[in-house]
Amino acid sequence: MKDSVLVTGGAGYIGSVVVAQLLTRGYPVVVLDDLSRGHREAVAPDATFVQGSIGDRTVLDALLRRHRCKALVHLAAFALVGESVAEPEKYRANNVTAGRVLLERAAAGGVRRVVFSSSCAVYGHPRATPISEDAPLAPINPYGETKREFERVLADHARVDGATVVNLRYFNAAGATAQHGEDHVPETHLIPNVLRVASGGHPALEIQGTDYPTPDGTAVRDYVHVLDIAEAHVRALEAERTATVNLGTGVGYSVLAVAEAARRVTGRAIPAVARPRRPGDPPELVAAAGRAATILGWRPRHSSLEEILASAWAWHQAHPHGYGN
Ligand SMILES: NC(=O)c1ccc[n+]([C@@H]2O[C@H](COP(=O)([O-])OP(=O)(O)OC[C@H]3O[C@@H](n4cnc5c(N)ncnc54)[C@H](O)[C@@H]3O)[C@@H](O)[C@H]2O)c1
Repeated sequence: MKDSVLVTGGAGYIGSVVVAQLLTRGYPVVVLDDLSRGHREAVAPDATFVQGSIGDRTVLDALLRRHRCKALVHLAAFALVGESVAEPEKYRANNVTAGRVLLERAAAGGVRRVVFSSSCAVYGHPRATPISEDAPLAPINPYGETKREFERVLADHARVDGATVVNLRYFNAAGATAQHGEDHVPETHLIPNVLRVASGGHPALEIQGTDYPTPDGTAVRDYVHVLDIAEAHVRALEAERTATVNLGTGVGYSVLAVAEAARRVTGRAIPAVARPRRPGDPPELVAAAGRAATILGWRPRHSSLEEILASAWAWHQAHPHGYGN
Protein backbone atom coordinates (compact mmCIF):
# COMPACT_ATOMS: atom_id res chain seq x y z
CA MET A 1 0.00 0.00 0.00
CA LYS A 2 1.24 3.49 -0.85
CA ASP A 3 1.96 6.02 1.92
CA SER A 4 -0.78 8.50 2.78
CA VAL A 5 -0.57 12.00 1.35
CA LEU A 6 -1.74 15.06 3.25
CA VAL A 7 -3.40 17.54 0.89
CA THR A 8 -4.06 20.99 2.32
CA GLY A 9 -6.70 23.02 0.50
CA GLY A 10 -8.17 19.83 -0.92
CA ALA A 11 -11.70 21.28 -0.82
CA GLY A 12 -10.69 24.09 -3.18
CA TYR A 13 -10.86 24.31 -6.95
CA ILE A 14 -7.48 22.80 -7.84
CA GLY A 15 -7.08 20.76 -4.66
CA SER A 16 -10.28 18.81 -5.24
CA VAL A 17 -8.97 17.62 -8.62
CA VAL A 18 -5.54 16.81 -7.16
CA VAL A 19 -7.24 14.70 -4.48
CA ALA A 20 -9.30 12.82 -7.07
CA GLN A 21 -6.20 12.04 -9.14
CA LEU A 22 -4.16 10.87 -6.16
CA LEU A 23 -6.99 8.53 -5.16
CA THR A 24 -7.18 7.18 -8.71
CA ARG A 25 -3.44 6.41 -8.54
CA GLY A 26 -3.93 4.46 -5.32
CA TYR A 27 -2.71 6.98 -2.75
CA PRO A 28 -4.65 7.17 0.52
CA VAL A 29 -5.45 10.89 0.91
CA VAL A 30 -6.09 13.02 3.98
CA VAL A 31 -7.53 16.46 3.21
CA LEU A 32 -7.00 19.33 5.63
CA ASP A 33 -9.15 22.35 4.76
CA ASP A 34 -10.80 24.96 6.94
CA LEU A 35 -13.52 25.54 4.32
CA SER A 36 -12.86 29.28 4.44
CA ARG A 37 -12.90 29.25 0.63
CA GLY A 38 -13.59 25.64 -0.32
CA HIS A 39 -16.54 23.28 -0.41
CA ARG A 40 -17.01 20.10 1.60
CA GLU A 41 -18.95 18.66 -1.39
CA ALA A 42 -15.84 19.04 -3.56
CA VAL A 43 -13.85 16.50 -1.53
CA ALA A 44 -13.96 13.01 -3.05
CA PRO A 45 -15.81 10.60 -0.73
CA ASP A 46 -12.84 8.21 -0.57
CA ALA A 47 -10.59 10.84 1.00
CA THR A 48 -10.40 11.36 4.75
CA PHE A 49 -11.56 14.89 5.49
CA VAL A 50 -10.37 16.95 8.44
CA GLN A 51 -11.80 20.43 8.85
CA GLY A 52 -9.15 22.66 10.35
CA SER A 53 -6.46 25.22 9.69
CA ILE A 54 -2.90 24.66 8.51
CA GLY A 55 -1.88 26.94 11.39
CA ASP A 56 -3.45 24.76 14.10
CA ARG A 57 -0.74 22.66 15.79
CA THR A 58 -3.19 20.53 17.75
CA VAL A 59 -5.14 19.53 14.66
CA LEU A 60 -1.94 18.88 12.70
CA ASP A 61 -0.30 16.75 15.38
CA ALA A 62 -3.42 14.63 15.86
CA LEU A 63 -3.86 14.18 12.12
CA LEU A 64 -0.24 13.21 11.51
CA ARG A 65 -0.15 10.83 14.50
CA ARG A 66 -3.23 9.10 13.22
CA HIS A 67 -2.53 8.94 9.48
CA ARG A 68 1.30 8.89 9.32
CA CYS A 69 1.46 10.85 6.05
CA LYS A 70 4.89 10.81 4.42
CA ALA A 71 4.13 13.48 1.82
CA LEU A 72 2.46 16.87 1.82
CA VAL A 73 0.77 18.58 -1.12
CA HIS A 74 0.26 22.13 0.07
CA LEU A 75 -2.39 24.07 -1.82
CA ALA A 76 -4.15 25.89 1.05
CA ALA A 77 -3.80 29.64 0.70
CA PHE A 78 -5.69 32.83 0.12
CA ALA A 79 -5.36 33.55 -3.58
CA LEU A 80 -7.12 36.79 -4.55
CA VAL A 81 -4.74 39.45 -5.80
CA GLY A 82 -7.10 42.37 -5.11
CA GLU A 83 -7.87 41.20 -1.59
CA SER A 84 -4.14 40.80 -0.92
CA VAL A 85 -3.57 44.44 -1.85
CA ALA A 86 -6.35 45.53 0.53
CA GLU A 87 -5.35 43.17 3.38
CA PRO A 88 -1.66 42.23 3.02
CA GLU A 89 -1.28 41.12 6.65
CA LYS A 90 -4.13 38.62 6.30
CA TYR A 91 -2.24 37.11 3.35
CA ARG A 92 1.07 36.96 5.20
CA ALA A 93 -0.59 35.38 8.22
CA ASN A 94 -2.24 32.62 6.20
CA ASN A 95 0.12 32.01 3.31
CA VAL A 96 3.40 32.35 5.20
CA THR A 97 2.99 32.27 8.99
CA ALA A 98 0.39 29.49 9.13
CA GLY A 99 2.30 27.67 6.39
CA ARG A 100 5.41 27.64 8.60
CA VAL A 101 3.44 25.96 11.38
CA LEU A 102 2.26 23.35 8.89
CA LEU A 103 5.81 22.65 7.71
CA GLU A 104 7.22 22.45 11.21
CA ARG A 105 4.56 20.00 12.43
CA ALA A 106 4.74 18.00 9.20
CA ALA A 107 8.50 17.60 9.57
CA ALA A 108 8.06 16.53 13.21
CA GLY A 109 5.40 14.06 12.07
CA GLY A 110 7.67 12.38 9.53
CA VAL A 111 6.79 14.16 6.26
CA ARG A 112 9.84 14.23 3.98
CA ARG A 113 8.30 15.22 0.66
CA VAL A 114 6.54 18.50 -0.14
CA VAL A 115 4.80 19.71 -3.30
CA PHE A 116 3.84 23.39 -3.13
CA SER A 117 1.34 25.45 -5.14
CA SER A 118 3.35 28.45 -6.16
CA SER A 119 2.30 30.89 -8.85
CA CYS A 120 3.44 32.86 -11.86
CA ALA A 121 2.63 35.86 -9.63
CA VAL A 122 6.20 35.48 -8.28
CA TYR A 123 7.52 36.95 -11.55
CA GLY A 124 5.60 40.25 -11.40
CA HIS A 125 6.03 42.18 -14.67
CA PRO A 126 8.34 39.82 -16.55
CA ARG A 127 11.13 41.37 -18.59
CA ALA A 128 10.89 38.69 -21.27
CA THR A 129 8.27 36.27 -22.55
CA PRO A 130 7.95 33.30 -22.38
CA ILE A 131 8.97 33.37 -18.72
CA SER A 132 11.59 30.85 -17.63
CA GLU A 133 12.01 29.66 -14.05
CA ASP A 134 15.30 31.56 -13.91
CA ALA A 135 13.63 34.91 -14.56
CA PRO A 136 14.00 37.40 -11.70
CA LEU A 137 11.40 37.07 -8.96
CA ALA A 138 9.76 40.47 -8.54
CA PRO A 139 6.16 40.10 -7.39
CA ILE A 140 4.02 43.21 -7.72
CA ASN A 141 1.33 42.38 -5.17
CA PRO A 142 1.25 40.93 -1.65
CA TYR A 143 -0.21 37.64 -2.90
CA GLY A 144 2.79 37.04 -5.19
CA GLU A 145 5.09 38.18 -2.39
CA THR A 146 3.71 35.48 -0.06
CA LYS A 147 4.34 32.83 -2.73
CA ARG A 148 7.93 33.99 -3.22
CA GLU A 149 8.49 34.06 0.52
CA PHE A 150 7.09 30.60 1.05
CA GLU A 151 9.33 29.20 -1.68
CA ARG A 152 12.23 30.59 0.42
CA VAL A 153 10.84 29.04 3.58
CA LEU A 154 10.66 25.72 1.74
CA ALA A 155 14.25 26.02 0.53
CA ASP A 156 15.35 26.40 4.18
CA HIS A 157 13.13 23.50 5.14
CA ALA A 158 14.77 21.32 2.49
CA ARG A 159 18.23 22.30 3.71
CA VAL A 160 17.57 21.93 7.42
CA ASP A 161 15.18 18.99 7.52
CA GLY A 162 16.43 17.10 4.48
CA ALA A 163 13.01 17.18 2.82
CA THR A 164 12.64 17.22 -0.95
CA VAL A 165 10.47 20.03 -2.28
CA VAL A 166 8.88 20.74 -5.64
CA ASN A 167 7.55 24.25 -6.24
CA LEU A 168 4.94 24.21 -8.97
CA ARG A 169 4.45 27.70 -10.38
CA TYR A 170 1.04 27.48 -11.95
CA PHE A 171 0.01 29.88 -14.65
CA ASN A 172 -3.80 30.26 -15.07
CA ALA A 173 -5.67 27.17 -13.91
CA ALA A 174 -8.92 26.69 -15.83
CA GLY A 175 -11.39 24.05 -16.97
CA ALA A 176 -13.26 21.39 -15.05
CA THR A 177 -13.85 17.67 -14.72
CA ALA A 178 -17.31 16.09 -14.58
CA GLN A 179 -17.18 16.20 -10.77
CA HIS A 180 -15.12 19.30 -10.02
CA GLY A 181 -15.23 22.87 -11.24
CA GLU A 182 -14.52 26.43 -10.27
CA ASP A 183 -16.82 27.97 -7.65
CA HIS A 184 -15.19 31.01 -6.04
CA VAL A 185 -16.91 33.94 -4.33
CA PRO A 186 -16.02 36.47 -5.53
CA GLU A 187 -14.98 35.01 -8.89
CA THR A 188 -12.07 36.97 -10.30
CA HIS A 189 -10.97 34.50 -13.00
CA LEU A 190 -11.76 35.19 -16.62
CA ILE A 191 -13.18 31.89 -17.84
CA PRO A 192 -15.91 31.36 -15.19
CA ASN A 193 -16.88 35.00 -15.63
CA VAL A 194 -17.11 34.63 -19.43
CA LEU A 195 -19.31 31.56 -18.96
CA ARG A 196 -21.50 33.35 -16.44
CA VAL A 197 -22.28 35.90 -19.17
CA ALA A 198 -22.88 33.09 -21.70
CA SER A 199 -25.43 31.50 -19.36
CA GLY A 200 -27.26 34.79 -18.75
CA GLY A 201 -26.06 35.13 -15.15
CA HIS A 202 -24.39 38.46 -15.87
CA PRO A 203 -25.25 40.99 -18.61
CA ALA A 204 -21.78 41.58 -20.07
CA LEU A 205 -18.14 40.58 -19.77
CA GLU A 206 -16.12 43.39 -18.23
CA ILE A 207 -12.79 43.55 -20.02
CA GLN A 208 -10.33 45.05 -17.58
CA GLY A 209 -7.92 46.91 -19.80
CA THR A 210 -8.07 47.33 -23.57
CA ASP A 211 -4.92 49.41 -23.98
CA TYR A 212 -2.22 46.89 -23.07
CA PRO A 213 0.80 46.55 -25.38
CA THR A 214 -0.56 43.27 -26.77
CA PRO A 215 -1.82 42.56 -30.32
CA ASP A 216 -5.48 43.33 -29.50
CA GLY A 217 -4.92 45.52 -26.43
CA THR A 218 -6.26 43.00 -23.89
CA ALA A 219 -4.23 41.00 -21.37
CA VAL A 220 -2.68 37.70 -22.47
CA ARG A 221 -2.53 34.66 -20.17
CA ASP A 222 -1.41 31.03 -20.37
CA TYR A 223 -4.37 28.78 -19.47
CA VAL A 224 -3.72 25.27 -18.15
CA HIS A 225 -6.41 22.66 -17.65
CA VAL A 226 -6.88 21.81 -13.99
CA LEU A 227 -6.58 18.10 -14.89
CA ASP A 228 -3.11 18.71 -16.31
CA ILE A 229 -2.16 20.69 -13.21
CA ALA A 230 -3.38 17.84 -11.01
CA GLU A 231 -1.38 15.30 -12.99
CA ALA A 232 1.77 17.37 -12.48
CA HIS A 233 1.30 16.98 -8.70
CA VAL A 234 1.35 13.22 -8.95
CA ARG A 235 4.51 13.39 -11.06
CA ALA A 236 6.08 15.88 -8.66
CA LEU A 237 5.34 13.58 -5.71
CA GLU A 238 6.93 10.66 -7.47
CA ALA A 239 9.96 12.53 -8.82
CA GLU A 240 11.78 12.31 -5.45
CA ARG A 241 13.87 15.40 -6.06
CA THR A 242 13.88 19.10 -5.34
CA ALA A 243 12.88 21.41 -8.19
CA THR A 244 10.98 24.52 -9.22
CA VAL A 245 8.95 24.29 -12.41
CA ASN A 246 6.43 26.36 -14.32
CA LEU A 247 3.12 24.73 -15.16
CA GLY A 248 2.02 26.40 -18.36
CA THR A 249 1.53 25.56 -22.02
CA GLY A 250 3.82 28.15 -23.60
CA VAL A 251 0.85 29.61 -25.50
CA GLY A 252 -1.03 32.73 -24.48
CA TYR A 253 -4.56 33.91 -25.28
CA SER A 254 -5.92 37.42 -24.96
CA VAL A 255 -9.18 38.22 -23.18
CA LEU A 256 -10.80 38.89 -26.57
CA ALA A 257 -9.55 35.55 -27.93
CA VAL A 258 -10.98 33.70 -24.90
CA ALA A 259 -14.34 35.46 -25.29
CA GLU A 260 -14.44 34.63 -29.01
CA ALA A 261 -13.59 30.96 -28.37
CA ALA A 262 -16.28 30.88 -25.66
CA ARG A 263 -18.87 32.15 -28.17
CA ARG A 264 -17.94 29.26 -30.47
CA VAL A 265 -17.97 26.63 -27.71
CA THR A 266 -21.20 27.74 -26.04
CA GLY A 267 -23.06 28.99 -29.12
CA ARG A 268 -24.18 31.94 -26.98
CA ALA A 269 -23.78 35.67 -27.37
CA ILE A 270 -21.23 37.10 -24.96
CA PRO A 271 -21.51 40.89 -24.91
CA ALA A 272 -18.43 42.67 -23.61
CA VAL A 273 -17.74 46.14 -22.24
CA ALA A 274 -14.38 47.86 -21.84
CA ARG A 275 -13.27 48.80 -18.33
CA PRO A 276 -10.03 50.33 -17.01
CA ARG A 277 -7.04 48.10 -16.25
CA ARG A 278 -7.05 46.28 -12.92
CA PRO A 279 -4.11 47.53 -10.81
CA GLY A 280 -1.24 45.05 -10.73
CA ASP A 281 -2.17 43.07 -13.84
CA PRO A 282 0.83 42.52 -16.13
CA PRO A 283 0.07 42.68 -19.89
CA GLU A 284 1.28 39.17 -20.69
CA LEU A 285 2.10 36.05 -18.65
CA VAL A 286 3.15 33.06 -20.71
CA ALA A 287 5.30 30.22 -19.40
CA ALA A 288 8.43 28.71 -20.80
CA ALA A 289 7.16 25.16 -20.32
CA GLY A 290 10.25 23.08 -21.09
CA ARG A 291 11.53 22.40 -17.58
CA ALA A 292 8.37 20.60 -16.44
CA ALA A 293 8.73 18.33 -19.47
CA THR A 294 12.39 17.60 -18.78
CA ILE A 295 12.18 17.15 -15.02
CA LEU A 296 8.71 15.72 -14.52
CA GLY A 297 8.00 14.30 -17.98
CA TRP A 298 4.90 16.52 -17.83
CA ARG A 299 3.17 17.86 -20.90
CA PRO A 300 -0.29 19.40 -20.88
CA ARG A 301 -2.71 17.04 -22.62
CA HIS A 302 -6.06 18.72 -21.95
CA SER A 303 -5.12 22.37 -22.22
CA SER A 304 -6.36 23.42 -25.65
CA LEU A 305 -8.56 26.48 -25.17
CA GLU A 306 -11.49 24.53 -26.65
CA GLU A 307 -11.18 21.64 -24.19
CA ILE A 308 -10.76 24.01 -21.27
CA LEU A 309 -13.85 26.00 -22.24
CA ALA A 310 -15.99 23.00 -23.16
CA SER A 311 -15.23 21.24 -19.85
CA ALA A 312 -15.85 24.38 -17.81
CA TRP A 313 -19.10 25.05 -19.71
CA ALA A 314 -20.34 21.49 -19.11
CA TRP A 315 -19.65 21.83 -15.38
CA HIS A 316 -21.20 25.28 -15.25
CA GLN A 317 -24.38 24.03 -16.90
CA ALA A 318 -24.61 20.99 -14.64
CA HIS A 319 -23.93 23.18 -11.55
CA PRO A 320 -25.44 26.60 -12.26
CA HIS A 321 -25.09 27.49 -8.58
CA GLY A 322 -21.71 25.81 -8.15
CA TYR A 323 -21.46 23.38 -5.24
CA GLY A 324 -24.47 25.11 -3.70
CA ASN A 325 -26.78 22.89 -5.80
N1 LIG B 1 -6.35 29.15 -9.55
C1 LIG B 1 -5.21 29.51 -10.16
O1 LIG B 1 -5.20 29.85 -11.34
C2 LIG B 1 -3.90 29.50 -9.39
C3 LIG B 1 -2.75 29.97 -10.04
C4 LIG B 1 -1.54 29.96 -9.35
C5 LIG B 1 -1.48 29.45 -8.06
N2 LIG B 1 -2.62 29.02 -7.45
C6 LIG B 1 -2.50 28.50 -6.08
O2 LIG B 1 -3.09 27.21 -6.04
C7 LIG B 1 -3.68 26.96 -4.77
C8 LIG B 1 -5.13 26.55 -4.96
O3 LIG B 1 -5.82 27.56 -5.69
P1 LIG B 1 -7.39 27.45 -5.95
O4 LIG B 1 -7.68 28.29 -7.13
O5 LIG B 1 -7.80 26.04 -5.92
O6 LIG B 1 -7.92 28.22 -4.65
P2 LIG B 1 -9.19 27.87 -3.72
O7 LIG B 1 -9.45 29.12 -2.92
O8 LIG B 1 -10.29 27.29 -4.52
O9 LIG B 1 -8.60 26.75 -2.76
C9 LIG B 1 -7.83 27.03 -1.62
C10 LIG B 1 -8.34 26.15 -0.49
O10 LIG B 1 -7.53 26.37 0.67
C11 LIG B 1 -8.38 26.43 1.81
N3 LIG B 1 -7.67 27.21 2.85
C12 LIG B 1 -7.29 28.51 2.79
N4 LIG B 1 -6.64 28.83 3.93
C13 LIG B 1 -6.61 27.71 4.71
C14 LIG B 1 -6.07 27.41 6.00
N5 LIG B 1 -5.45 28.34 6.74
N6 LIG B 1 -6.21 26.16 6.47
C15 LIG B 1 -6.85 25.19 5.76
N7 LIG B 1 -7.39 25.43 4.53
C16 LIG B 1 -7.27 26.68 4.02
C17 LIG B 1 -9.66 27.07 1.32
O11 LIG B 1 -10.78 26.78 2.13
C18 LIG B 1 -9.78 26.45 -0.09
O12 LIG B 1 -10.53 25.25 -0.05
C19 LIG B 1 -3.49 28.25 -3.97
O13 LIG B 1 -2.34 28.09 -3.17
C20 LIG B 1 -3.26 29.29 -5.05
O14 LIG B 1 -2.48 30.35 -4.56
C21 LIG B 1 -3.82 29.04 -8.09
